[in-house]
Amino acid sequence: MSDADALLDAARAVRRNAYAPYSNFAVGAAVRAEDGTIVPGCNVENASYGLGICAERNALTTAVAMGLRRFTAIAIAGPDGIATAPCGACRQFIAEFDPAMPVTYTGPGGPVQTTLAHLLPESFGPHALGK
Ligand code: THU
Repeated sequence: MSDADALLDAARAVRRNAYAPYSNFAVGAAVRAEDGTIVPGCNVENASYGLGICAERNALTTAVAMGLRRFTAIAIAGPDGIATAPCGACRQFIAEFDPAMPVTYTGPGGPVQTTLAHLLPESFGPHALGK
């Protein structure tokens, strides 16, 4: 199995843990760290709707808490038949770590392989602040 397939499998697996009682739109994500560690995340909603967190940001914040900072790819798995590209907030969040990160997301015609540079061109990021 390719690295991209394995990452998407991890995203599909953690999708089963999504807490999405309000939208019923379960999402799983998995980020691969430079050392090969795969870190999963799912969306976690809240009765105060605006507080919900997306799967991608859950995966990335979990990875950072594990001491990981450098990532090589992210995969996102949503409901069957629906293109689940990362939302705008998550695109910005991913850009913090790599504005060109390879991104795979599930869609009606099968997995879509793209990059963050395509999804969020000319991004604002740490470079703008000299970091
Ligand atoms: N959601 C994600 O977790 N990731 C995405 O890429 C798209 C949207 C979540 C947010 C919310 O819990 C639910 O999906 C419906 O928007």
